Order: sequence, then structure tokens, then C-alpha cells
Amino acid sequence: MPATVLDFADARLPETAPRTEGVLLDGVSRTFPTARGSREVLRGVDLDVRHGEIVAIVGPSGCGKSTLLRMLGGLDAPTSGSIRVGGAPVTDTDARTAVAFQEPRLLAWRTLAQNVQLGLPRSTRGGNKREGGERVRQLLELVGLSHAADQKPREVSGGMAQRASLARALARNPEVLLLDEPFGALDALTRLRMQDLLLDIHAAQPTTVILVTHDVEEALFLADRVLLLRSLDTTPNTDASVGSIARTIVVPGDRPRDRADHALTELRAELLQGLGVDTHHHHNHSEETR
Ligand SMILES: Nc1ncnc2c1ncn2[C@@H]1O[C@H](COP(=O)(O)OP(=O)(O)OP(=O)(O)O)[C@@H](O)[C@H]1O
Ligand SMILES: [Mg+2]
Repeated sequence: MPATVLDFADARLPETAPRTEGVLLDGVSRTFPTARGSREVLRGVDLDVRHGEIVAIVGPSGCGKSTLLRMLGGLDAPTSGSIRVGGAPVTDTDARTAVAFQEPRLLAWRTLAQNVQLGLPRSTRGGNKREGGERVRQLLELVGLSHAADQKPREVSGGMAQRASLARALARNPEVLLLDEPFGALDALTRLRMQDLLLDIHAAQPTTVILVTHDVEEALFLADRVLLLRSLDTTPNTDASVGSIARTIVVPGDRPRDRADHALTELRAELLQGLGVDTHHHHNHSEETR
């Protein structure tokens, strides 16, 4: 029998603290020292994400999206400001958060099942192997990889590897799932399927999801809110009071959304404009024809 999202919801999960608070960022800034002096990448990011919310982050290349996600996952620390997950500060990587990146980053010499197993909390990985094995089996079924459990990453397609990566991130049942352009390397059809899969997983077990994407349509299809980050570099220093978040858009309608919804089309144009993409071809016409 194929896995359903309900099987996943019923699965016995590791004990966790009550999940009420989501993610709280208060005045988060990050400055990197460089050979040519310090470089401010993020400034004054305030964000309150409720538990179970899906937030998408879009913005030009280099504006600090990955830096922000890395700080949420405890892989980097803010220069100033604070980050809390579930009411407690983030000081290091811990089991509350799990990260999946654009490239699946699987261990080449391990099977997909073994790679997913590496995402399990230590207690399940070592002490209680049978329970861990069962959880890996469920996760592989959830992402449609039962048949490929014993294959190595190089033996499977990019979409399959990415699904294994997602299963590995879900293995520890994180409070917060951090996704950095998770479907960016996939073909358009696989990408749409992965978006549906993510929503199925989220519907079965509401996890807070913070997703970085370059795909405005993906952001509007998946997220409750879309944050548009701006590049501090390209904006003159005169407006020192403005932080990194240029805009926050609340996406209307319940999920799953209709990809062709007119309201989304308008928001899409608005977001693309915020990203500096001209959506009105005729404006350029005179230039194109010289
Ligand atoms: N450890 C570091 N040391 C110095 N500079 C860094 C470091 N990490 C990131 N940066 C700089 O911070 C800026 C933001 O990087 P980041 O990777 O967060 O951008 P991004 O928004 O994710 O871009 P992209 O869309 O291309 O992935 C870049 O200019 C990068 O060079
Ligand atoms: Mg990035």
C-alpha cells in the first residue's frame, strides 16, 4: 500500500517540547569582515513567524538570503540582534531546525536509506535501531523513494536525490524546516511535484517552513507570507534607518492554491517589479527596436 500523508502524521515521533512559538528575529544584522573592510549584508531584520507558518524569502543574488537562513539554523551568528526558535535562543546547530540546500549534499558512498538515517536524532540512530529503521522506511515512502532505498546518490536522478535530501531533513521531525532554493536545480515538472509534496508534508504535520527561492511563483504558491529582501550594497547609504526587508506580502487564499489565481498573478508582477524585473515588455519596445 502506498504511503499516505496520514501514515506520516500517525507515525510515532520523537518527544518534543510543546510547539507554540515559532521563529522570532529581533533586529538581526550581519556584517562580514573582508580584506577591504567590513561589509554589512543584513541590517535590522525583525520577523515573527508563527508555528506552522510558511514564509518565503526572495531577493536579488547576494542580498543575504542564505546568510539569514544559516543564522536561523545556527550555522552562523548575527553580529547584533537575536534569534529565537520555539521560545529559546539559537546559539548553535540543534535538533530544532533542519536545513536542506539547493544541491542535495548526500554522502556518495551511502545508500539513500543510509543518508536519510543520518538525519535521525542521535538517540534513534544509535540506541534504538529498529525504531530508526522504521522511521527511515516511512520517510522514504513519504517522498516516494521506497524502491530506491538501496541505491547510491549517483545512481538516481536529481529529483530523487533532492527528495532524499528532504526526507533526511524531515527525519528529526524539526520544529523549523529551512530550505535554501531546495528545488532550484530541478526541471519544471519535478519542481511542481516537489512543491505539492512539500505541501502534503506540511498539511500532515505543520512545521514552520522558511524557504529561500528565486522563483516568485513558487513563493506565492507555497507561502503564507513572502519577504522581499533588498541588497544593502546597491541602495545608497543615506537611508540608514531602512533595514534589509524591503517588503512583506501576505499571500491571500488557503493552500493548496490555484496556480492560475488572478490575485496571485498581480502579486507576481508586484514582486518581480520589486526584484527589478520589468514585466511590461512594451515599455522597452522603443529600445528593442532602436
Ligand atoms: N563568510 C563570509 N565572509 C564574507 N562574506 C560573506 C560570507 N558569507 C556571505 N558573504 C557575503 O554576503 C553576501 C550575501 O551572501 P548570501 O550567500 O547570503 O547571498 P544570497 O542572497 O543567498 O545570494 P544568492 O541568491 O546568490 O544565493 C554576499 O556578498 C557574500 O559574498
Ligand atoms: Mg543563497
